[in-house]
Amino acid sequence: MAPVPNPCYRFLSRPVGFPDLAKDFQYETSRELDLDSVELHGSFLTQTRFLSIDPYMRGRMEPGTFMEWTPGQIWEGFGICEVIRSETAEFQPGDKLYGYLFFERYHAYAIQEAQPRMFRRLENSEGLPLSVYLGVCGLPGKTAFYGLKAIGAPKEGESIFVTTAAGVVGMTVCQLAKAWGLKVLGSTGSDEKVKFLTQEVGVDRAFNYKTASTAEEVRKFGGLDIYWDNVGGEVLDLALISMKQKGRIVICGHISEYNDESRYGIKNTWEMVYKDIKMQGFYVFTYEEQYADEFYSTVPKMVADGKIKYTEDITVGLENAGEVLLKVLNGKNVGKAILHI
Ligand SMILES: NC(=O)c1ccc[n+]([C@@H]2O[C@H](COP(=O)([O-])OP(=O)(O)OC[C@H]3O[C@@H](n4cnc5c(N)ncnc54)[C@H](OP(=O)(O)O)[C@@H]3O)[C@@H](O)[C@H]2O)c1
Repeated sequence: MAPVPNPCYRFLSRPVGFPDLAKDFQYETSRELDLDSVELHGSFLTQTRFLSIDPYMRGRMEPGTFMEWTPGQIWEGFGICEVIRSETAEFQPGDKLYGYLFFERYHAYAIQEAQPRMFRRLENSEGLPLSVYLGVCGLPGKTAFYGLKAIGAPKEGESIFVTTAAGVVGMTVCQLAKAWGLKVLGSTGSDEKVKFLTQEVGVDRAFNYKTASTAEEVRKFGGLDIYWDNVGGEVLDLALISMKQKGRIVICGHISEYNDESRYGIKNTWEMVYKDIKMQGFYVFTYEEQYADEFYSTVPKMVADGKIKYTEDITVGLENAGEVLLKVLNGKNVGKAILHI
């Protein structure tokens, strides 16, 4: 068979503030691959189906950060691919795999390269649309599940405040919390998303942090047993004041500061002393071994049973990766941002 186009999406230069699509990224169309004759050397050849666009990708563009991207390299992120040829017994043609992929149409993953990419064959016995394994059943869902279990340690009847509650991590935290008997307050950035939180996600109360006072909303809701922090900055400071005795603060992200060089100085940590408050950050994969099997046997079933709802914001075409990331960083996505390749 003749070689076929193998386009990819590259990171060219480190953005200052919000990325500049024309300068910082490049969709490259000149590469080709012969799918039948490319040497596999014991590896497996995949075709990319779906790619996830996540806020953490902006962090990877900064020098010295965790798993930093180098200018010139192809973007990397979680996605779903299908095995089209294989020289390893582990994966067979037709298998659908979840893993940390290159942003290109085809890729042959050598076995030593595949290990840290955390490939997992998706059995999908629930028959869910595959893209769901990038959202509530993928990294964001795991983040919610692992963080709540390991740090939030929720008990029935407790209260939780979740920021960026209409985002995929946030909405999964909210729905797990409701399923586990908690009272949930969510904040988000538009009235449309507030409606989605109260009417679809089923939180007890939600507000638009751009038009309402977070301090006032949290005060009206009552004290907090758990604060799930997706944003950092001033909201974390406000939440500290409202924590109850032995409250837990889960530091999941700090999206309010991803494109901003200045750092908000937290003033209210003294609240932690006499209230015995625990505040802990976490990286989702620290808990992979501990919770992955429980996650895969719990969450896809909850989704199939309609106990966890989800929304997706799917864009077709690898060439749109940068644009979709900007949409996410500007809060314009409604649901999990996904590229369909
Ligand atoms: N700890 C971990 O291992 C781990 C793993 C995965 C993700 N995370 C973190 O979890 C958080 C949520 O991730 P996600 O994938 O579910 O993202 P997401 O919520 O789907 O998308 C980003 C959302 O953040 C909000 N936002 C954007 N700019 C903001 C700003 N300046 N201030 C406040 N909110 C802003 C917007 O929602 P609004 O309209 O509501 O503002 C936007 O829709 C992120 O901070 C991410 O980095 C952590």
